[in-house]
Amino acid sequence: MNIVALCGSLRAVSSNKTLLRAAARLAPEGVTITLYEGLGDLPHYNPDLESNPPPVVRAFRELIRAADGLVIASPEYMHGVPGSLKNALDWLVGGGDEFVGKQVALLNASPRSTRAQESLSDTVTIMAGHVVEEASIAVPLLGKNMSEEAVLGDAEIAGALRGAMVALVRGIEAARP
Ligand SMILES: Cc1cc2nc3c(=O)[nH]c(=O)nc-3n(C[C@H](O)[C@H](O)[C@H](O)COP(=O)(O)O)c2cc1C
Repeated sequence: MNIVALCGSLRAVSSNKTLLRAAARLAPEGVTITLYEGLGDLPHYNPDLESNPPPVVRAFRELIRAADGLVIASPEYMHGVPGSLKNALDWLVGGGDEFVGKQVALLNASPRSTRAQESLSDTVTIMAGHVVEEASIAVPLLGKNMSEEAVLGDAEIAGALRGAMVALVRGIEAARP
């Protein structure tokens, strides 16, 4: 099973990225979680480009099409979803049906980022994706400066993350025809 991870923060030491990298290492056997690193390289969404989408956009769409599910972790910026992440999601609607029916886990490194989380959930739903609620958790990493190893070494956090990934895999399996 192949799951793609998207991070709404472009920061090198992003706590959401740390969460995703740790989740990848806690994935159940036979499940690969790959962090997409190209979010910041996608051009601004422009419907005029749909007739001949740039190669980075084509590659991103193919990556999402081939994914069995998605895990998204994002900060909240000014009560909203960061523009870079929203831009990436916009590219998945303009062209075709890559996103349709995808099972999605929404992680969050800051439990106070409730507005962005709600907005993201709304966006995923209108894109005909499905938010797996049992796989969508907030983990309080903000301000703790925790490394990936520290996250994996924290029994409570690692247990919650592993449980979320197991729930996502169950959601993907349950949605299969
Ligand atoms: C420009 C900016 C705006 C922010 N706005 C909010 C906000 O509206 N609500 C909130 O809870 N946190 C806000 N934050 C805090 C971020 O959500 C927080 O730093 C985030 O968890 C960092 O994620 P990262 O470590 O993955 O980059 C903001 C941070 C920045 C840099």
